[in-house]
Amino acid sequence: AAPLRVLGIESSCDETGIALVELPGGVRGAQPVRLLAHALHSQIDMHQAYGGVVPELASRDHIRRVVPLLRQTMTEAGHALASIDVVAYTRGPGLAGALLVGAGMACALGMALGKPVLGVHHLEGHLLSPFLSADPPQFPFIALLVSGGHTQLMRVDGVGAYTLLGETIDDAAGEAFDKTAKMLDLGYPGGPALSKLAEQGDPTAFKLPRPLLRGDNIDFSFAGLKTAVWMQQQRLVAAGTMTEQARADLAASTQAAIVDVLVAKSLLALKASGLKRMVVAGGVGANRRLRQQLDAQCAKRGVRVHYPELHLCTDNGAMIALAAAMRLQAGRAEPSLAYHFDVKPR
Ligand code: KG4
Ligand code: ZN
Repeated sequence: AAPLRVLGIESSCDETGIALVELPGGVRGAQPVRLLAHALHSQIDMHQAYGGVVPELASRDHIRRVVPLLRQTMTEAGHALASIDVVAYTRGPGLAGALLVGAGMACALGMALGKPVLGVHHLEGHLLSPFLSADPPQFPFIALLVSGGHTQLMRVDGVGAYTLLGETIDDAAGEAFDKTAKMLDLGYPGGPALSKLAEQGDPTAFKLPRPLLRGDNIDFSFAGLKTAVWMQQQRLVAAGTMTEQARADLAASTQAAIVDVLVAKSLLALKASGLKRMVVAGGVGANRRLRQQLDAQCAKRGVRVHYPELHLCTDNGAMIALAAAMRLQAGRAEPSLAYHFDVKPR
């Protein structure tokens, strides 16, 4: 069978991502998805001055970037636009105006090429992203999805067969990183900055809460941590002991609290399901301490942990093209020639 090529467009937040993937044996072939090329532009520098993502600016920048990135992707892949069989885009969740840029581009391209379009759930992209790594997982597995907007544990039995086991009742893990980093004047996005500063600090220096850790509850809560960090910081400032070292210690203690909860809940989900395989995806999955602690705990229990390649942890087009291709291969997708814009911000 002829290969099937899927273009993926991601524009849900502050990253514009385009990628071309291929199912070498077509939709009926059993071979895994191959990434042919991808291009990414991060708006982080633009939003940094505002301490967070400004939706209006994000939309405008996606519009500026999407065509050059598409050209770059096709050139790198060495294929003409006409060789695209399906155009996939992120349908949601995300910023409405930002999502519309990707959806609009997908529909316009699909219409011009006479090819169908397919909306993809952003989290499904993250969830399946380890399938593009050199050491892809096998179903079934437990997935820990940790991004700026979501913190979920799921049981994954196959493409589209997802069971939610637990999720955050307030802030997401990435939000906890970002908000505490902001308190420590580390700027945006806080996750990478906080974890960098934490390397100089003592993770046991300050006692911070690990909410919902007792019992067999698989839900998460991070709102209390934010308050605890703030109070600790106020105490240090009042005592005149907010030194560089204290700041690093507080960053390290905060990171340790977040990671402890993520690891403990993951172990609970693994134990309850009896599964011996785990996938970690989403921006916070890039965190080094999380990887070290989870790997160590899982190794003790004979559990294999799979991660996406580091550069595919945060938002990108490759995961969207991949999710679309895997859905098509599993017979669980209905690409459409109707070209109606259906974005789902929530
Ligand atoms: O998946 P993602 O790129 O976007 C969303 O869909 O939200 O995740 C972004 C989140 C941000 O909150 C960012 O601070 C966090 O991932 N993040 C990290 C690290 N790298 C990114 N958090 C902790 N440690 C990191 N190394
Ligand atoms: Zn994301």
